[in-house]
Amino acid sequence: MAPKSNSGKMLSSILVIGGTGNVGRHLVTASINAGHPTAVLVRPATAGVSGKAELMEAFKSCGARLVYGDIDDHDGLVAAIRQADVVISAVGHSSPEEVESQLKILVAIQEAGGVKRFVPSEYGCDVELAEHMLEPARSILGAKVRVREAVKASGIPHTIISSNWLQGFLLPRAGNPEASGPPNNSVTIFGDGKLQVAMKAVEDPRTLNKILHLRPQENLCSVDKLISLWESKIGKALEKTYVCEEELVKKVQVSPFPLNFQLAVLHATLVAGEANLTDKATATGASTGERVEATELYPDMNYMTVEEYLDGLQ
Ligand SMILES: NC(=O)c1ccc[n+]([C@@H]2O[C@H](COP(=O)([O-])OP(=O)(O)OC[C@H]3O[C@@H](n4cnc5c(N)ncnc54)[C@H](OP(=O)(O)O)[C@@H]3O)[C@@H](O)[C@H]2O)c1
Repeated sequence: MAPKSNSGKMLSSILVIGGTGNVGRHLVTASINAGHPTAVLVRPATAGVSGKAELMEAFKSCGARLVYGDIDDHDGLVAAIRQADVVISAVGHSSPEEVESQLKILVAIQEAGGVKRFVPSEYGCDVELAEHMLEPARSILGAKVRVREAVKASGIPHTIISSNWLQGFLLPRAGNPEASGPPNNSVTIFGDGKLQVAMKAVEDPRTLNKILHLRPQENLCSVDKLISLWESKIGKALEKTYVCEEELVKKVQVSPFPLNFQLAVLHATLVAGEANLTDKATATGASTGERVEATELYPDMNYMTVEEYLDGLQ
């Protein structure tokens, strides 16, 4: 029998597609920790990849079920989806084609029937509102928009999660994707999210067919403020190198993937004014129409603050 939540409700069974990826692995863990019967679609060849093989063992030992398959294997995908109430995708953004592979997931969900909620792979900025993107971000986020449109048109019950930059990516590098860790002596300055929220959202009628924003007001933090917070933690001033927009644009053009993508999104969010993306949708961070705010729906959740996160890095 399926496990029950504290309120005695049966917990949905969850299939994570892309669970061996950087973001997907945290979704798998969040699903297991929330008590959902959890399955992970894994590509057979990935079982032989160092690092991922160990991850799969860890999933199994925590109680997740591994289902061998591939988005390109339609029949296998339909069979895996038939076992799930909720399908969460965390496929990567290595190319527009990888993002659009999710259109095959939609077809499989329609054929399988019975899926109560689909969460497409987003977990970033609210892509429909992004206008000033440099390549390759423009094409990749354009593919995310096309997937959004297809999800909405399909009639499949869904929730889209928009978490802006994930804490674990930008905060440890003080906003610089090229840095390997927290700054110690110097810092280069160009111009958040809790995946556990996803597990609350997939069972919540208030997030059905909505875009769920994760934007704790206390975490709205400029890079200047972030750096001065870090300086006060390490007790010294950092030597600062400022990169102008023209130089950043050149850097985007000459950098390899994924750095060019990360810098292009950084350019849009920090330099070209797209930091106000969520402001366009929610003037005060409040829920409006199609968009709902996680901190309002789940006020009792512990949203880690920027300061708490930086404390953990010391
Ligand atoms: N907001 C942020 O700061 C932020 C940061 C990073 C990512 N993101 C977003 O999070 C999402 C996931 O990104 P990521 O970096 O975690 O991606 P990733 O590490 O590249 O992982 C991609 C996952 O998709 C799986 N996959 C790809 N093609 C597949 C196929 N044909 N069949 C089955 N599985 C397939 C991969 O499986 P294998 O292991 O077999 O390759 C892997 O598990 C993306 O939407 C991305 O834009 C947001």
